[in-house]
Parts: sequence; structure tokens; C-alpha cells
Amino acid sequence: MKKTRKPLVIGNWKMNLNVSQASLLVSRLDKHVKAHRDVEVVLAPSLLVLQPVSMQIDRHKFRLAAQNAYHKDEGAFTGEVSFTMLRDLVGYVLIGHSERRIYFNEDLNEIRDKVSACVRNGITPVLCIGESRTERRAGETRQVLHDQLVTAISDLTAEEVAGMVVAYEPVWAISTFGGEIAKPDVVEKDLKFIRKQIEDLYGEKTAKDVRVIYGGSVDDHTAKAYLDIDGCDGVLPGGASLNYHKFAGIVEAAYKSSKEKDGKKN
Ligand code: PGA
Repeated sequence: MKKTRKPLVIGNWKMNLNVSQASLLVSRLDKHVKAHRDVEVVLAPSLLVLQPVSMQIDRHKFRLAAQNAYHKDEGAFTGEVSFTMLRDLVGYVLIGHSERRIYFNEDLNEIRDKVSACVRNGITPVLCIGESRTERRAGETRQVLHDQLVTAISDLTAEEVAGMVVAYEPVWAISTFGGEIAKPDVVEKDLKFIRKQIEDLYGEKTAKDVRVIYGGSVDDHTAKAYLDIDGCDGVLPGGASLNYHKFAGIVEAAYKSSKEKDGKKN
């Protein structure tokens, strides 16, 4: 049976690894990460090392993502790099990561503009959304997820939404902000809610096609429980993606989970 939503593992290296450290990690990943036709493995290095990493990776095994880009295509925007500049280099760009929202004050409109620029340049956006601990405690999770999602994709067509990736990353579960381990049944409900919002706005087919993944302290021990969730199409590890052994374990978990899900369907 043809898979409509290929499982995705995206390693977010954040602001770690210089050129030689990145090169060492890539050679270790190359040795330890097994290529599986049914799992897409993506590395998200810093902008500085994207180019050398792109020349080193085996493209049958790994694809690349940038962690951020600016929404204008070119011009006098000192210090920025545009989606246009990245489009021959990466297949994905992370947009709206909570570290960008919190440390760099990216607001809903800026994130919407980035998502539009990303799609306009033929790159797949990985839109990160998630509530803070305070918002969850106040019972505002759904409102926050709704607002972050709906604003970010408001300029896109149904077809464009179908082709994107939404990463649910509760802020309280990200290692940077406390790293509380989210229970898979909690994650399952929120992933369902996200897909339902897309269904309500863009129809059943779009909701069926869009990939919704999970991130927040995912490692080789916890990955499978998230990946096994019906409707979870992948994971976005940060810290664990810097360790070749853990990252390889996460990729294997994605492969196993996907085989088991296929078995259930047949
Ligand atoms: P973490 O990061 O796995 O270190 O919690 C995930 C992320 O921020 O994308």
C-alpha cells in the first residue's frame, strides 16, 4: 500500500557545532543511521554549516532543513538569510520554533509571512506550534494552538497546507524550557486537535495529507511511544539529535513503528 504520509525524523541541532564538529557528527551519522525507504531523515544544522554538510551527506539518506530564514527574498536586511537563498540547499525550514518566538519575539504575523515566503520559494515549512506551561495550566492550550496554527497558514491554499509539516512542540516539554516528558496520551489528543482544525478549515483531504509530528525532549527511549500514536507522522528531537547513537535509535524507532502501523492496516 502506498504511504501518503511518510514518517519524518528531523534533528534540530540548534546553535551547536562548528564546521569540524558538524563534519564529525555527519560521518558518524552516516555510519550508524540506517537508510529506510519508508522513513525520511532530515538534519537541521546552523546556517553556517548547511553548505559544508550538504556536500558531505549521502542524499539518499539525509535531507536538510534550515532552522530559520527571513521572509523577504532579498535586499537591505543586514544579517538575514532568505528562503530564496536557501531553496537550492534545503527541502525544509523550521518556522516559529518556540525559541524564536520567546527569545527573538517572533509574533504570529511574522511567522505567517515566513510560512508564505517558504512555500513561495518551493520549500516545505515545518511550522512549530505549542503552548507554554502557564497556558496549559490555565486551560488555554487549544486556543493557543488554534491561534498559532490558523494565523500561520492563513495565506496558503488547501494544497499548500496539505504539503506542509506541523510540529506540535509544547514549550514545557522542550529541554530548553524544562523538558517535562509529555505523556503520549496527552500528545495524542493535541495532535488530533491540530489535524481537526485543519480539517475544519481546509477539508478532509488536506487534513489526511498534512504531516503532523511531535517534538519536546524526544530521545531514543521515548520516541517510539510518540511515533506509535495514530496520526503522529514523525518526531523533532533537539538535544538527542546531537548524539549519533540516540539519533540512529530514533530513526530505527520510526522504522519499526511505521512497519507496525502498516501491519495493522493490512
Ligand atoms: P529537545 O528540543 O528535544 O532538546 O527538547 C526539541 C526542539 O526544540 O525542537
